[in-house]
Amino acid sequence: MDSLPTRLLRVNPLQPDPGIIREAAAILRAGGLVAFPTETVYGLGALATDRQALRRIFAAKGRPADNPLILHVAHPQELATLARELPPAAWTLARAFWPGPLTLVVPRAPQVPDEATAGLPTVAVRLPDHPVARALIEAAGAAVAAPSANTSGRPSPTTAQDVWEDLAGKVELILDGGPTGVGVESTVVDVTGPHPVVLRPGGVSVEALEGLVGRVTIDPAVEGKPLDGPARSPGMKYRHYAPQAPALLLEGSPEAIARRVVELAWEAAREGRRVGAVVMAEEGSLLEGRLPDGAVLRILASRDAPEEAAHRLYGALRAMDRLGVDRVLLAAPEARGVGLAVRDRMYRAAGWRVEQV
Ligand code: TXA
Ligand code: MG
Repeated sequence: MDSLPTRLLRVNPLQPDPGIIREAAAILRAGGLVAFPTETVYGLGALATDRQALRRIFAAKGRPADNPLILHVAHPQELATLARELPPAAWTLARAFWPGPLTLVVPRAPQVPDEATAGLPTVAVRLPDHPVARALIEAAGAAVAAPSANTSGRPSPTTAQDVWEDLAGKVELILDGGPTGVGVESTVVDVTGPHPVVLRPGGVSVEALEGLVGRVTIDPAVEGKPLDGPARSPGMKYRHYAPQAPALLLEGSPEAIARRVVELAWEAAREGRRVGAVVMAEEGSLLEGRLPDGAVLRILASRDAPEEAAHRLYGALRAMDRLGVDRVLLAAPEARGVGLAVRDRMYRAAGWRVEQV
């Protein structure tokens, strides 16, 4: 695709300047692409009613055409206009978690373009909890389709600089509202069946969903169980969120993981290669001072602080690319709360290569 002049505008994340929001909304209404911050990750927005703009999203990201987009709304009632019918669980969950990092998959209304749903009979809808995102959607006057604003396959962007790295020359505008809070994407929940199914774990925990609606199942595509057949959430079948260097997820006690990281790092060093380790504080403290020169160590958070790990994960994975390591070693937090999402992203980053130590 031809290179466009991409503008980067700083915007106050708490109280966005109405002039900047008007300008950004005008770009969307004219068929342009605008990247903007949400509470999870940065999104790459296009007007959901503009088929050609939707196609531009796929081109800019290099996104497979069978992977549908999330439509972002500014008010909960808009869910009713995008859905053909609303299962009761949809309202229950929307009322409890919107605005917030929850995406609802509902039967799609006929006017929702195929480009947004990749031809599926359902549509994904979310009301983000970020003043810039909400002001932009409101000013755009229609739902805004927005996948994460990264090149397909790369870690999602949590800063405007990350977006710039991937999309400069491909979008009209990037709104810089500073680093995002949650750090991993929204939880995608299919409410079309008898009970809710989590298609992608994210910012809203499974425990919180269960607390509200009782029985919730987790799609088998989550956490290192790739499907052979068609995936219910097409985005879940790809190696994703991945650094450029091959990655390996290590599972075991902090001591065993640290021992294996040291072993692999020195083995690599002897061959003139460098490893990067993205680990939890428990392993990190054991690794300090034990790695060869050139090895990179990024500590996310302690194993029982998954929110903090989520907040730092993608930045750490992108740092591995910037620092040009030859191999990435990962260690995950517990699968509690948002920790399930962090583990899921690490499995995908590693292309499901896991070693028990
Ligand atoms: O936090 C987020 O959700 C971010 C911010 C920007 O809102 N957006 C995001 O979008 O992560 P994206 O496109 O990177 O991921 C959307 C996920 C994909 O896994 C996609 O397959 C799934 O949602 N999805 C979208 N529509 C769907 C549908 N109708 N049925 C099942 N899965 C769907
Ligand atoms: Mg994405």
